Amino acid sequence: MNDADAPLWGGRFSKPPAPEAEALSRSLAFDVRLAPQDVAASVAHVHGLEDAGLLTAEEAAALTRALHEVGEEIAAGGFSFHPADEDVHSAIERGVTERLGDLGAKLHAGRSRNDLVVTDLRLWLLSGGERIGAGVTRLGRALVAHALEHAETVMPGTTHGRLAQPVTLGLHLLAHAWALARDLDRFHAWTGRASVSPLGAGALATSTLPIDPGVAASRLGFAGAFANSIDAVSDRDFAQEFLANAAILGTHLSRLAADLIRWSDESLAWLRLDEAYATGSSMMPQKRNPDVAELARAKAGRLAGHFTALCSVLAGLPLGYHRDLQEDKEPLFDAVDTLEVVLAALAGCVATAEFDAESMRRATAPDGLYATDLAEALVTSGVPFREAHRRVGELLKRLDAQGRSLRELSDAEWQAEGLPQGGSLLDADRAVRARATHGGPSPESVRAQAGALERIFDTGAGSP
Ligand code: ARG
Repeated sequence: MNDADAPLWGGRFSKPPAPEAEALSRSLAFDVRLAPQDVAASVAHVHGLEDAGLLTAEEAAALTRALHEVGEEIAAGGFSFHPADEDVHSAIERGVTERLGDLGAKLHAGRSRNDLVVTDLRLWLLSGGERIGAGVTRLGRALVAHALEHAETVMPGTTHGRLAQPVTLGLHLLAHAWALARDLDRFHAWTGRASVSPLGAGALATSTLPIDPGVAASRLGFAGAFANSIDAVSDRDFAQEFLANAAILGTHLSRLAADLIRWSDESLAWLRLDEAYATGSSMMPQKRNPDVAELARAKAGRLAGHFTALCSVLAGLPLGYHRDLQEDKEPLFDAVDTLEVVLAALAGCVATAEFDAESMRRATAPDGLYATDLAEALVTSGVPFREAHRRVGELLKRLDAQGRSLRELSDAEWQAEGLPQGGSLLDADRAVRARATHGGPSPESVRAQAGALERIFDTGAGSP
């Protein structure tokens, strides 16, 4: 076999791989984005070899320089990939070896692609997690800003999508922000577990060379090195956990998007989407469609799919490296890409949205929204809640039959119902202020929640 066509493992083989086998095997098209991490991990490994006395300082410096040059060439699009480059890791090693000859051939001592691949992937994902955290924070802040502006804006709260009790817009917006705060917390906790360097585990059993994995770990900014070399090359739960967090975040973004879509439709018109975050129709000139929110709503399915895909790859896979593990990358890359673009678009969509406080207030007119308040007023004067519930229900039934509303009751009729405060209860501002409990819809509670969330989004840690 011609040396130039030989794969890295060619020594034992007398034929090159069949083109179809190579086509299935090649991961370069997607793992080329690990090039910066592969250069960093390789440089850390070179230092380990130098510390072990296996490379002179000059050799280490030449290898480091060549690695950076290859990395820069790949970044600039000037690197010429070879058909035999199975993945980015083999391409970079080949590039270094072509530059340095025998010295380049020393690079792979004491390491395997099995530990290298997963080291690169952890590094990539840790920075992906940071970008997602920044996107979540930006969206969270946009929600908090609107919530503070609308701490006193009343609107009908719903259960089962039907009118329930008055709330403040601030309370509802912050419900979405609290979900995002938990997402931040999940990614933060994940970082602690994922920050483990597998480099030095080798193919599965470390190596006979005196290389300290702790040195590469700290050079690469990991919190520590692996505790078990088989676990180091086999473990992908850091990737599963990341995708689980991404899928949960995806559902949160989807539910927020669903509210934006509903509130901005013509039947409610509680919210006007900025033109920069809406789209028109090619046929109907009047349209202002919520495509950004619709796509954000739909991406949850794709993100959940990535989690499911990786779980299926891993289930039943014995320990040790298997080529199956190459399938871990695309779901992760796509999850990060998807979330970055959705978070940015949704943050802009929320930040520029204009709420119509007056139309929300008008929607608090239906008297059914105050039925619970009437029952609770009866409870305050000593009526057991079940009886109070029944009495208010009967009153509503009677009025319904008469085609009247609670607002038409006379003082005497209110008196007869045991509710002398009467019509004053049918007021959304009073209703939300009366719910003064911590965590509820009152303007004070909304402001206190917003303050706690601002602290979370300022520290990025996800808990107060
Ligand atoms: N591209 C491969 C991956 O992503 C590299 C590892 C190949 N290792 C091996 N022993 N065949 O997993």
